[in-house]
Amino acid sequence: MTAGSRFLRACLRQPVDRTPVWFLRQAGRYMPEYQAVRRHHSLLEICKQPKLAAEVTITAAEKLDVDAAIIFADLLLPFECMGLDFEFQAGEGPVIHKPVRTADDIARLHTDRAAELGYVAEAIARVAAHFKDRLGIIGFCGAPFTLASYMIEGGGSRNYVHTKTLMYRQPDLWRRLLDKLVAVLRDYARQQVEAGADVIQVFDSWAGALSVEDYRDYVLPTTKTLIRDIQAAGVPVIYFGVDTASLLPSMRQTGADVLGLDWRVPLDAAWHTLDYACAVQGNLDPITLFADPDLIRRRVRQILDQAGGRPGHIFNLGHGIVPNTPVENVQHVVKFVREYAAELRHD
Ligand code: CP3
Repeated sequence: MTAGSRFLRACLRQPVDRTPVWFLRQAGRYMPEYQAVRRHHSLLEICKQPKLAAEVTITAAEKLDVDAAIIFADLLLPFECMGLDFEFQAGEGPVIHKPVRTADDIARLHTDRAAELGYVAEAIARVAAHFKDRLGIIGFCGAPFTLASYMIEGGGSRNYVHTKTLMYRQPDLWRRLLDKLVAVLRDYARQQVEAGADVIQVFDSWAGALSVEDYRDYVLPTTKTLIRDIQAAGVPVIYFGVDTASLLPSMRQTGADVLGLDWRVPLDAAWHTLDYACAVQGNLDPITLFADPDLIRRRVRQILDQAGGRPGHIFNLGHGIVPNTPVENVQHVVKFVREYAAELRHD
């Protein structure tokens, strides 16, 4: 079984020879090879030069010996083709210069220029040409809520006051904004699939800021549309958010093939809540990677025990690898996942 088919089969809840593993943010600042590229290029330059984006993607996947490679890109890239400028300020994260707040702001957003994002598809084509069917290739995009929150707040946020104010007070405008995002994201995801992505991950990183009612009323319908549209392009969808324990049953209603779990919810309890009706991905706390290898091994085994060999588990972290994470500890996790499978075979 190739790593690629192992990963894809797990997404579809088919039996595999061992649990596939990859990491959120597996190419990033914790990795010296990425830092070396980053010294000469900005984040956006790397994203926009398919050769560089492909190189960073491939280097990380090979160094970690994981089952899937996630394309190096950023969640906010579609903003540019919608007419919103942004930049990454050192230590501050993304800054959107003119946040979207009014009906006019929303009316001005373009939805017909997703072709300008072709550089991401081109990078995927390069990664696909390199790995062929050996590794799973993951494309990604943001979910409507998480992207809308960046557009409206102008960057990261703690309380989402502007976002929720628009949502509550002007639900028609809110809906119009989300529909515009979906129109762009569906084209963008389709380009990635046509270029060779085997799976699309939809990042709803900050959905956990919503109550169950608000998620259902204001976010679920458009998110479901996006996920269905991506699936219609012929690939499984992984839907991921953080702090989502109470939202999981509603997130499942999107019809996503796989739900990403963070570490605050035990994997077995979460999967049970989902009636085992979809695959799950996760869910080691990324900060565990700062512990010693014995503790990491114990935590990896606990997660695999909780999955219980049931088809449809993809090992991952509960959120992205953070800067200064020791690379060898990430490699240890891959080793521990394999060790566990080897032991099961000998039992
Ligand atoms: O291998 C990989 O997974 C990396 C590819 C990747 C990046 N961004 C590159 C990047 C992915 C999957 C993303 C997604 C992304 N971008 C998300 C959702 C992911 C999640 O963790 O839930 C979000 C919220 C963004 C927006 C974004 N981009 C933020 C908030 C930041 C700043 C974070 C920080 O720590 O400074 C970025 C910058 C960014 N995107 C970096 C990388 C590797 C780090 C900055 C750099 O290299 O200069």
